[in-house]
Amino acid sequence: MADRFETKTVHLGHEPLRQVKGKARPIYQTSVFAFSSLEDIERYYAGEGEYLYTRNGNPNQHELADAVARLEGAEAGVSAASGMGAIMGGLLSVLGPGDHVLASHEIYGGTYSLLFNELSRLGITAECIDLSRLDSLDKHIRSNTKLFFMETITNPLLTVADMPYWIAQAKNYGLTVMIDNTFATPYLVQPAQYGADLIVHSATKYIGGHSDVTAGVLVGKNELIARAREVVTGYGASLSPFEAWLTARGLKTLALRMEKQCDNASRIAEFLKNHPAVLKTYYPDAADTSFFTRPKQGAMVSFQLADESKIYDFYRAFRWIKLAPSLAGVETSLSHPVTTSHRALSEEQRTTSGITMGLVRLSVGIEAVEDIQEELERALGV
Ligand SMILES: Cc1ncc(COP(=O)(O)O)c(C=O)c1O
Repeated sequence: MADRFETKTVHLGHEPLRQVKGKARPIYQTSVFAFSSLEDIERYYAGEGEYLYTRNGNPNQHELADAVARLEGAEAGVSAASGMGAIMGGLLSVLGPGDHVLASHEIYGGTYSLLFNELSRLGITAECIDLSRLDSLDKHIRSNTKLFFMETITNPLLTVADMPYWIAQAKNYGLTVMIDNTFATPYLVQPAQYGADLIVHSATKYIGGHSDVTAGVLVGKNELIARAREVVTGYGASLSPFEAWLTARGLKTLALRMEKQCDNASRIAEFLKNHPAVLKTYYPDAADTSFFTRPKQGAMVSFQLADESKIYDFYRAFRWIKLAPSLAGVETSLSHPVTTSHRALSEEQRTTSGITMGLVRLSVGIEAVEDIQEELERALGV
């Protein structure tokens, strides 16, 4: 080791560790990996070494992607810097100029915008269809239709379409099927069991579970994921090691969180259904979720205030439930679709879709359900 002060400052203490066995995986907070020889670099390119540069791959990204892939029963996975990064990776692993996408009309606004504002510029076209009014894809299939996209539980009206049926339909036409399983998570249903080729998560939500990270994961068949990985790294949407580590840490308690959050949500949905200040409650029906692997209907509840004019007072009345336009954290939170996620909708679109000023979206957390109920009771009484 060189012994001048400046050189020592940079290098001392940074020698590689001997084999140590931390119980938790360390954070590989490094942008690049060191090689002991040029031959080692050759071995990496020959497919024998795993890591070169973090944008291309990092043990923390892989830990998260592998865990979600295994929970979803999928062959492989890739993590991304956000749910949108993962959706983009999935779509562009399949689609190119001239291709057409069929998507459910109830999809996240960001996905809608990716399809219609961004991918359209690459010559990819899309059509949104109302799965509740159709029994076949027949009339919508074109010769260039390549991919079918839907969400397991939709936002904000929490509709659950017959996913196994639609996957089978899409497969009949030879389409690649991509499912956004963010709201249900593999705790409730694993779309790969029904033949989905790609499953995507905004891991920002239940996978991470603590509202402290933005991340995405895409899982599916080996060949598709290999291609998606090239898209994610090529477009620069790789997940940072620290975010990957936090998300993987959150994932460890997914089952515990989901169990409690779903149980709390079904109690709160019952309470809201019987409340005079609530016009309508949206919570998936047990009959619609019969293809889920557990008898639970998710942890999101939406509802319509009977008196829409009270909406501003209603949101002001909360003491500890926060108004925050996201979901799925351990803390119960509220959002208001019209002023946030569905802001871009015209008045007419809002009325026809049922996303009106009085619609409230509640993400139910792990707190004592009695406290959540009392907090809602107070706000509904304003
Ligand atoms: C169902 C769904 N998919 C995808 C996304 C996008 O995820 P992210 O915000 O992590 O990019 C969201 C975000 O709210 C979502 O609700």
